Amino acid sequence: MTAPQHHIARPIPLARPDVGPRELELVAEVLASDTLAMGGFALRFEAGIAALTGRREGVACSSGTAGLHLGVRALGIGEGDEVITTPFSFVASANCLLYERAVPRFVDIEEDSLGIDPDLIEGAASDRTRAILPVHVFGRPCRIEEIDALAKRRGWRLVEDACEGLGSSVGGRPLGGFGDVAVFAFYPNKQITTGEGGMVVTDDAELAETMRSLRNQGRDADGTWLRHVRLGYNYRLDEMSAALGVAQLERLDELRRGRARVAAAYERALGDRDWLRLPRAGAGEIVDWFVYVVRLHPDIDRDALIGRLAALGIPSRPYFSPLHLQPYYREAFGFRPGDFPVTERVAASTLALPFASRLADDDVQHVADALAEAVA
Ligand SMILES: Cc1ncc(COP(=O)(O)O)c(C=O)c1O
Repeated sequence: MTAPQHHIARPIPLARPDVGPRELELVAEVLASDTLAMGGFALRFEAGIAALTGRREGVACSSGTAGLHLGVRALGIGEGDEVITTPFSFVASANCLLYERAVPRFVDIEEDSLGIDPDLIEGAASDRTRAILPVHVFGRPCRIEEIDALAKRRGWRLVEDACEGLGSSVGGRPLGGFGDVAVFAFYPNKQITTGEGGMVVTDDAELAETMRSLRNQGRDADGTWLRHVRLGYNYRLDEMSAALGVAQLERLDELRRGRARVAAAYERALGDRDWLRLPRAGAGEIVDWFVYVVRLHPDIDRDALIGRLAALGIPSRPYFSPLHLQPYYREAFGFRPGDFPVTERVAASTLALPFASRLADDDVQHVADALAEAVA
């Protein structure tokens, strides 16, 4: 019996965490101990991420969103302050400003990196501008060196959203190595996972101490349990999650090699189609892709294509949906379609394909064949 052309031997996931015996070992070590929270694994994880990104301090927290909030709050960005940021992102990168009643001033992106366009930043500045919050999209660096220089020149703070950028670098400098604070996220679809979790890195010991206090219900460094010196949160990372992170970090090179293999397999399988633009690193960049997002020719009906792919057993997804067009942003700020044309054009053409470190080469070929069939 011959298999149908696109018979899929196993379900192909859109994303999949890569967890092995080392993760089981370290998480079991936590569970066998009496310390399930506020212990040594969080400290080890903090030291590991700080070392990887060349920063002095790491502050582990419960999610990337919590990390962004910690950073914004510790920098004192508050009511009425304007922060220049991108509308082509995951919603948390702008929400963290709303939490503090600061105002996101969206600036359109550039087609190539999909990051905020540095040439448009000055035009969005005002005397209330306090900071820039750029996002590295899908693991590809935005033009962070220029943005960093501009922020320094103008005396603005820099909050680097590196939630999708762990392991990527530009000019030999790791992402997460630029901002006053930089933030990583470890949801299961990320380069490494802790289940839920995040990390803020910084070189400023005072900022780090403030964020540790904010994360821990506003307690002081002396740790007195029922003494609260400021309004705080419970944004701590538990020890099971931190142990998972320590094990994943040990395996980062292996995981990264797996993702690079899958990206190369997509290049081979999809490389020569004129209706498709594949994700590529720019000059001087090393990219550890977080998701594999291709861009379709504008004549292709992306949403219909997603449906046809699903019928062929292939999950896929648009990535992202513009932030300024989310209902409550429209309501609060009066944004309308057309406000950020590059963002809107890109967002209408993106398609995230199945991507995971252990996706087999023949699964990648299945996806490519199904995509070609669905487009035809
Ligand atoms: C760009 C960006 N910022 C922030 C976040 C928030 O991270 P988390 O989902 O861990 O809260 C994510 C991840 O989902 C992200 O992709």
